[in-house]
Amino acid sequence: MLSRKSTLFFVVLPAAAVLAASGFIWSGAYDVGADSPHTKPVHRLLEIARERSILVRAAELDVPDLRDPVRIVQGSGNYQAMCAGCHLAPGMAPTELSQGLYPAPPDLTKTAAEASKAFWVVKHGIKASGMPAWGKSMPDEYIWNIAAFLQELPDLTADEYQAMVARSGGHSHGGGESMPNHGGAAADGAPTSDENDAHAAHPHADAAAHTQAKPEAGTDSPGTKTGESHSHKQGHSDDGHKH
Ligand code: HEC
Repeated sequence: MLSRKSTLFFVVLPAAAVLAASGFIWSGAYDVGADSPHTKPVHRLLEIARERSILVRAAELDVPDLRDPVRIVQGSGNYQAMCAGCHLAPGMAPTELSQGLYPAPPDLTKTAAEASKAFWVVKHGIKASGMPAWGKSMPDEYIWNIAAFLQELPDLTADEYQAMVARSGGHSHGGGESMPNHGGAAADGAPTSDENDAHAAHPHADAAAHTQAKPEAGTDSPGTKTGESHSHKQGHSDDGHKH
């Protein structure tokens, strides 16, 4: 038999804590809004959990040679097509996604994510954040190419970035691509280098953001044959986006 004191510590108090937590959750008092930041301790706790989880898993990876220019250039086309809408690119104005997501996507033009960690995060995504698991559609080699490109990204000017993307062959990773403007995506969605003209920059930034946000948009439309979910025939989705 448990003593009175033990009963209090091991049964009554935990039960009360569970009840209080359930009551709090059920009351709806917790604000899930992305525009309502976590408290400092919760933020710190989640950050440590994320960092440790990624670090431990990334440490098990064998990193290939990432200095191969072919890798880097190939990775740039996919970065422009799949990542810039959230993580930005040199000379690119902030997008609705880069500003609206919480946790915020880090600006990858500022600091290079360490290669093995970047590979792991790109392949598996991050739960309950906007970061998708790209490994569901992209073979490892292509993900390493992006990780290789990320090492160069912070050193690129807007012109260098656009030139590289233009040489990259655009959005290609062996199937499953969901961007409508395959191949042409590169030049088309590239950020304008005219940093002073924020207005001109905006439609481009938005277009990138929207195609990223709704990669499946249009793929279910009547007439689209099954198995054609990476059809490249759809129009550019910056038409009609006005607010
Ligand atoms: C829809 C928005 C979105 C898209 C698209 C996206 N990401 Fe992310 N990414 C995020 C968010 C949000 C985080 C931060 C998650 C967190 O802090 O928990 C993140 C985190 C990361 C990180 C971790 C950075 C660090 O140092 O912690 C890397 C690396 C990354 N993304 C790379 C990419 C790459 C490469 C692509 C394209 C293949 C991509 N992301 C596409 C939203 C996005």
